Parts: sequence; structure tokens; C-alpha cells
Amino acid sequence: MEKPRRLLQQKAEEYNEIFSSFKAEEILAFLFKNHPGKATFSSSMGAEDQAMTHMMATIDNNPSIFTLDTGRLFYETYELIEKTNARYGINIRIFFPRAEKVEAMVNEKGVNLFYQSIENRKLCCGIRKIEPLQRALKGYEVWITGLRSEQSMTRSGLKKAEWDEGNQIIKVNPLLDWSEKQMWDFIKQHQIPYNALHDKGFPSIGCRPCTRAVLPGEDIRAGRWWWEKPESKECGLHSGKKAE
Ligand code: ADX
Ligand code: SF4
Repeated sequence: MEKPRRLLQQKAEEYNEIFSSFKAEEILAFLFKNHPGKATFSSSMGAEDQAMTHMMATIDNNPSIFTLDTGRLFYETYELIEKTNARYGINIRIFFPRAEKVEAMVNEKGVNLFYQSIENRKLCCGIRKIEPLQRALKGYEVWITGLRSEQSMTRSGLKKAEWDEGNQIIKVNPLLDWSEKQMWDFIKQHQIPYNALHDKGFPSIGCRPCTRAVLPGEDIRAGRWWWEKPESKECGLHSGKKAE
């Protein structure tokens, strides 16, 4: 039976306390035990997400994992989806944007509308990512992400568990306090498959037209929406608000 949302909201705070001393694997085991079949992980197929998929597939033989295919991803990302499914014997569910919404948007504003203004960029992220995310989270009690607080200035205030008002769900970030080195050590130690672009100067990978390689010494997210200022560089997936 579905738990009342008020009860879940209280649990978010409780979990944040409990998780402060838990390792990422312990957080996942706790969630699978307390929310069987009701915890789902959103993977962008990035390095953090691959580490998480490895942990989930090790603990649970049928973990719920999904990815949002915006239709503008890199070829290498699609290859990685296949490779990851084969390695772990899992089926990463794919969510697409609504075709009629994408058609209306690109016919009105152009296929590469995102370069023209922040407003257009947010519209595209809204249609291609946020609406499908809302569908993907329906019916679940817990949303697991691969967010790390070190990733950007916009992520430093996140908690290990928090209530996401927009999606009415407990949002859990088990890797929040992982360093980049810790993540790569884990990936190498377990020979976890990762996106080939990471070895070509892409530390953070999103949609192809909105991601470029970074130069040595540049910030890890400098290549995401590189034409925008750092404070606007979020697609809205993690705003905690309802999509407009
Ligand atoms: S983004 O907001 O800038 O695109 P980033 O690539 O850093 O996010 O990923 C952070 C977390 O957001 C990931 O660990 C994942 O949980 C979620 N996420 C981002 N993009 C996607 C996607 N395309 N599909 C599923 N989850 C995603
Ligand atoms: Fe559109 Fe770029 Fe956002 Fe992808 S990252 S949904 S292409 S604006």
C-alpha cells in the first residue's frame, strides 16, 4: 500500500540524520529494506551513476534504474547503456520526452534553440528531461541520484536525504560526500564500465550539443552549458520545484 506523503516527508528528515554515519552501500541496503520496490535510481550514465549502478546491482538482483533519453545524447552514452545492461544483467529503463512537445518546440524555435537564451535552454531541458523525470518517479517513494556536493557551487547545500516538494518524494544522494578521486578509485577497483568520453576530457556528460570537453585545470562542470554563467548551470532536475 502506498505510504501517505506526509509520513514520507517526516522520514526524509529522519533519514538525513541516520545517513550521516552510513556508507553509500549501507544507505542503499537501508532503502531497499525499508522501501522494497519503491526506490528508483535516475542514471545519467555518468561516472558517479555507474558507481551507483554497480552498488545497486551488487545488493539487489533487480534494481530499479532509469535514464532520461533526451534524444540529443552522445553516441558513447548509448553504447554505455548497452554495455552496462550486459555487464550487470539489468534493464535500465529509458524514458523519452513527449514527441508532440518536442515537435512543437523545435518547429517554433529551431532545433538548436538552447544557444539563443537561458529561457530557451530551460524550455528544452523542461520538455526533454523534467517532464519525463516526473513520469519516471510516479508511484515511487524514494528517488536516488548520483549527485556529489563537490560537483558545483549549486550543489554544496544538498543533503544526503531531503524532501523533494515538487516531486513529492524522498530524494537520496548517497554519494554526496564522495570526492572525485574516491569515485574513480572505486570504478577502477571494480572495473566498472564508464563512458569512453571521460578519457577524452569530458568529466561531466549531458546532451551532446550542450557539453564540451574541458581543458586541464578547468572546473569539472565548465563544459556543461559552457556559454552560461556557473549559477544558471542546472537543468532544473534538482530544483525541488514543480516544472512550469
Ligand atoms: S545535470 O542536472 O547537470 O544534467 P548531472 O549530469 O550532473 O546533472 O547528474 C546529476 C544527477 O542527475 C545524476 O546522478 C542523475 O541522478 C541525474 N540525471 C542527470 N541527467 C540525467 C538523465 N539524463 N537521466 C537520468 N538521470 C539524470
Ligand atoms: Fe536540451 Fe541541452 Fe537541456 Fe539537453 S541539455 S535537454 S539539449 S537544453
